[in-house]
Amino acid sequence: MRADAQAQPNIALIKYWGKRDIEQNLPAAGSLSVTLDSLWTKMSVEFSDALPGDELVVNAAANDEMLPRISACLDRVAGTDRPRALINSEGNFPIAAGLASSASAFAALVVAASKAAEQNSDTLSLARIAGSISGSSARSLFGGFVELQTNDTNIDVETIAEAGVWPLTVVIAVTAEGAKPVSSGEAMIRSAASSPFYSSWLEQQPADLVSARDAVLRTDFAQLAAVSEHNCLKMHSVMWASRPPIVYWNSATLSCMEAVRHLQDEGHAVFFTIDAGPQLKAICLPDEADLVRSALDACAGVVRTMVSGLGAGARLLDSK
Ligand code: DP6
Repeated sequence: MRADAQAQPNIALIKYWGKRDIEQNLPAAGSLSVTLDSLWTKMSVEFSDALPGDELVVNAAANDEMLPRISACLDRVAGTDRPRALINSEGNFPIAAGLASSASAFAALVVAASKAAEQNSDTLSLARIAGSISGSSARSLFGGFVELQTNDTNIDVETIAEAGVWPLTVVIAVTAEGAKPVSSGEAMIRSAASSPFYSSWLEQQPADLVSARDAVLRTDFAQLAAVSEHNCLKMHSVMWASRPPIVYWNSATLSCMEAVRHLQDEGHAVFFTIDAGPQLKAICLPDEADLVRSALDACAGVVRTMVSGLGAGARLLDSK
C-alpha cells in the first residue's frame, strides 16, 4: 500500500496561460516545455485505514495548506472511497516561487498513488489526472521536449523529442525565494477576465506552437529562442495589462534579462524565459552554460543560480 515516485519540474517555452474550463482545469491552449533533470520532487504515498485523515509532510514539516489539492488528486487516482493516505514530499528546490514545484509534485504524486492503489494506469491517463489539478504538471509525466494539446474535453501530452536528442542546458537565476503573491491559477483567471490582450494571446498560441515544435524537431536554436522569448513576453504583457495588474518580475529579473541580451549580442546561443514568479530561466547550448551562469551570478539581486540538463519523466522509485 506504499509507493514512492520522483518527478522533475518542467519549464514551458510556449506557455500555458488561461483555462477553457475552470472546473476541469482544462487549458485554453496547448503548450510546449522541457523537463529538467537535476531539480526533483520525491513523493511517497501510503494508504492506510488506520489514519484519521490524509496527512501531508513537505520537507519534514506538516503542511495543511497544500493538503486539499493533494487529497483531491488522490481521490481522482484511487476513488473517493480510498483509504486515508500519508503523503511525504521532499524536494531540492524552493516551492511556490515560480520554479514549477507543483508540476513535479503532482506528477510524482499520481505515479506513486496509482502504484500504491495497485493500479496499472498508463502515463497519459495519469498526466490527465495530474493536469486536472495543476495544468503544467501533466507535462512532467514525460521527459525531454514535451507538447501538450487540448480540446474541449481532454488534454493530450507527449514527448516530441527525447532529452538526449538535443541536450540543452537550463540555468535558473533565483532572484527571490518567498512564495509568489498571486497563484498562477488565480492570475490566469484574472487575465482572462480583464486583460485586453488575452484574446490575441490565445489566437496566436497555435502559430507559436507550430514554430517551436518545428524548431525542436530541426534543432534550430535561433528559431526556438525567438519564438520562446516572444511567447514569454506576450504572456507577461497579458498579465501586466490585467486589472489589478499582475507583475511577477523584480529589478533582478530585468537585470538578468539584460545580461542574456548582452550575451546574445556577443553571439552566444542563449535565450530566457520567465514564469509566474521573478526567477529567470536561461536556456543555452551546454558549452555556453558556465559563461551564462557567471553572467547571471554577477547580476545585482541574484540570490543563487542552479543548472540543469534535460531529463526524464516521472517514475517509480524503490520504496525504502
Ligand atoms: C506560467 O500549472 O501552476 O508556469 O493549472 O492553475 O495549477 P494551474 O496552473 P499552473 O500554471 C503554470 C503557468 C506557467 C506556464 C506554464 O508552465 O506553462
